This record gives sequence, C-alpha cells and structure tokens, in this order.
Amino acid sequence: MTDKDLQLRSQAYEEVEKYKEKVESDYHRLKYHLMPPVGLLNDPNGFIQFKGIYHLFYQWNPFNTGHGAKFWGHYTSKDLVHWTHEEIALSPSDWFDKNGCYSGSAIEAEGKMKLFYTGNVKDEEGNRETYQCLVESEDGIHFEKKGVVVNLPEGYTPHFRDPKVWQHEGVWYMIIGAQSTDLQGKAVLLSSTDLKDWSCLGDITGSQSEQLGEFGYMWECPDLFQLEDKDVLVISPQGLEAEGMLYNNVFQSGYFVGKLNYETAKMEHGEFTELDRGFEFYAPQTTVDEKGRRLMFAWMGVPDQDEDKQPTIEYNWVHAMTLPRELVLKGEKLYQNPPEELKQLRKNGVIHTGVEISEESTSLADVNGDVVELIVEIKGNNAGSFEINLRNEARVVYNFHEQTVTLERNSYAKQGTEKRQCQLSELKELRIFLDTSSIEVFVNEGEEVFTARIFPSQNDKELLFKAENGTTICTVKKWDLLK
Ligand code: FRU
Repeated sequence: MTDKDLQLRSQAYEEVEKYKEKVESDYHRLKYHLMPPVGLLNDPNGFIQFKGIYHLFYQWNPFNTGHGAKFWGHYTSKDLVHWTHEEIALSPSDWFDKNGCYSGSAIEAEGKMKLFYTGNVKDEEGNRETYQCLVESEDGIHFEKKGVVVNLPEGYTPHFRDPKVWQHEGVWYMIIGAQSTDLQGKAVLLSSTDLKDWSCLGDITGSQSEQLGEFGYMWECPDLFQLEDKDVLVISPQGLEAEGMLYNNVFQSGYFVGKLNYETAKMEHGEFTELDRGFEFYAPQTTVDEKGRRLMFAWMGVPDQDEDKQPTIEYNWVHAMTLPRELVLKGEKLYQNPPEELKQLRKNGVIHTGVEISEESTSLADVNGDVVELIVEIKGNNAGSFEINLRNEARVVYNFHEQTVTLERNSYAKQGTEKRQCQLSELKELRIFLDTSSIEVFVNEGEEVFTARIFPSQNDKELLFKAENGTTICTVKKWDLLK
C-alpha cells in the first residue's frame, strides 16, 4: 500500500470514529438496510458471491455528505441479511483515480476476485479524464490495484464509466456507460481474452440509435445479463423528460429486454421499462449467486434529487441501499422480489383474515410499528379505492376504477405531499417493507415496486386501512423485523 493510500484510509477511519456516536444517535438510522458508517453512500459496486460469501461494495465519500473523491466501502454477508462492514476496499490514492474510485463490478477468475472500476481524474482546469482500472484479490478482503486497462476510445466524451464485466462463451465482455461526442447516452461493449487487453466493439444501443429516438445525454451504470433465453440491459439514462406517470425522478433506472448479437456488437431490444416506480432508486447492479439467482441491489437515492435536503445530513450521514431483490423474467417483464432469506427477520407474526375495510380509517390489533413487514392480500372488493396509511408519512393507494397504484409521501424537501404512480390492471397483494426511514412496496409479487425514503416521527407507529365507496376484504399479515 502506498503512503497516500494509508493516509486516505486513516483519515476515513478517523471520520468514522469522530462521528460514530452522532450518526448512531439518529433515530432514522435503518435497522436492516446497508448504510455508510459516516458520510455519503451512492451506487452499489462489485456485487458478487465469492467462495460462498456475498460481497457488496459501495461508492463512499467518508468526508462529508456530498459527492466527492469516492472510496469503495465494503460489506460481506453469508445470507444477504446479516452484513459485516469490512475494511476499505479502495481509496482514491493513485494518479489514475485521484478524484474518485468510481463505480464498477466484480468477477471471479483464476480463483481470484477481480474488480473493475472507473478511475475518475480531473486535471488542473477541471477537465475530466477517465480510466478503467483492474484490481485483484486473493481473499476478497485485501485488494491490489493493477492500474489502468482501458483508456478512453475515440467517439466518446470522458463521461465513460461504470464497467460491468462478464464472461460469454470463453470471452470476457465489459459494458460501459457512455456519452458519444455528439452528446448522446450509449452502452459501449468491449471484449478481452485475458482481462487486461481490451478492444472496443462500439455501442450496442443508445440514444439516437436505430431503435431509440432521443433517449438521454448520458447513460450510467450499465449491466447486461441473460435471463431465460433473453438478454437484459439495465441502464440509468440521464436526460429523459417526464411523460405522465413515467420518468418523474430527476434520473431514471430501467431495462431493455432483447438479444445481444456478440458478432455485430448490436443489441435488438424492446422498450425501456423503469425498474422502480417510487422516488429513490438508482444505479442498480446485479450478480448471479451460487443458487443461480439473479440478485440486484440499488442505491436508495437519485443524483441531484434533493440530496442536500435529506434529514439525516444533520447526523453526518446520507443514503442507503435498497433491499436485495431477486429478478425473474416473465415474458418481457422483470419481476422483483426480496430473496427468501429476508424471512429470517420476521418476528412476532400477526394475522387477520376476512378483514372488511371501508370508509372509516381502521387500525388492526397489533398491526403497527416502525420496522415491519406487512402483507395485504385482497380477497374481495366493491370499493373505488383501497388505501394504507403508513405512520402518517406515506400512503399506498390502489384505485380500482383508474387501475393505478400510487405512493404518496410527505416530502422531506418541500412543503406538502408528492406522489408517484403506475398503471396496474389488478391488485392482488401489497407486500410492504418499512424501516425507520424507508419504504419498499412490492405489488402483486414483484410486478411493480415502489421505493422511497420517508422520515416519520419516532412516536408515530400507526398503520391505518381505509376503502372508499365500498368495502375491500383482505387478509393482513404483519411481522416486526429484527436482526
Ligand atoms: C452514478 C454515478 C456513476 C459514477 C458514480 C460516482 O450514481 O454517477 O456514474 O461512477 O456515481 O460516485
């Protein structure tokens, strides 16, 4: 390790120590989601199961709650539920990453863990440079930087980053989020046989390509994987305009389903579908685990979306990861559900069957709390709408006439409430994960998901049910979630 590396690491650890008590005194510290020990967390990086252990790295600025020269923080787990915070994996200590070890991915090769990340560099005039870098580790805990393996190819601006690497028929491929010199967002494919020498094959799709019209000025954090017999390209495009219920966040994350032709390096695909219908969700990354499951984490935040107004900043930390989700492709649609391991958290189960909900706001015996899982199965309905009010901070509403699901929350940035919605022809089930300052709603076993940060008061643990213009009959199950 270089002196610079040692120095940056010890400064980061000092920061952790200095604010530990203050950070931990925040009621809104989450109970079963991953967070930074201090400072700012953004993208999930290097998600992999290596020698049986799940590793999740994250973009981390330990020095303040804004963005800056990122480190890679590191968590490990045996079961996706109980996580250990490991020592820092990467610090921005070299000439090729001095302004940030930006996002990237992990693979296993030759029995080693190998990381690929973007070295972000700004020169004296503030001009950006980008380097794709390789790192190796024998044990998945100690990392050795191997330096730059990809320089910026022609045709792209230095907004060229976030390498995701995989193997296909004996060849390694890397997909990169990019901006072409005519300022269009692109997903760029590279290939290699030895992980060191990479050739650029060009963009497989992007804004202003044959299949898409105008589709953003920059594409971040690509991921490409096979599910069933199809290829799925996950991407976070920047620059989409809101269209009714779609694209209401500052930046989006979603996917295209189709087929990547590895010979021509072009992907034929269908339409873009947002992965999440809520407020805070960005830069998802997947891996396939030893059970063969395609698992995904995302950042429970969005760049430039009132980040500086997050209430936890007062306690010197900001942002968290979503829960992990297992992805299953049904036709052209990704279904997302928490992996079954999450059931380990369930304590104090309560069940109410044949519950009739109507006009009057109703609470149910022992159905309340701040760190809970709630399952509501709809058994019958003649109401116009059905609503769950969560801690007077968020409301999930299904409108049977309009066939819409709505997540409404009290805004932490502005006065009043704000909402996100999607169209859904039928409501069968709502599965809601509440943590002290987050909500994740899985609708109809993962057909749609809404994720948001919410900041309820500590004392309000009320969960209320209501239906309008009729009655909804349901089964309600509730658990406290405890590690
Ligand atoms: C996405 C992103 C990535 C970049 C990283 C820097 O949120 O902007 O494109 O690598 O964050 O932290």
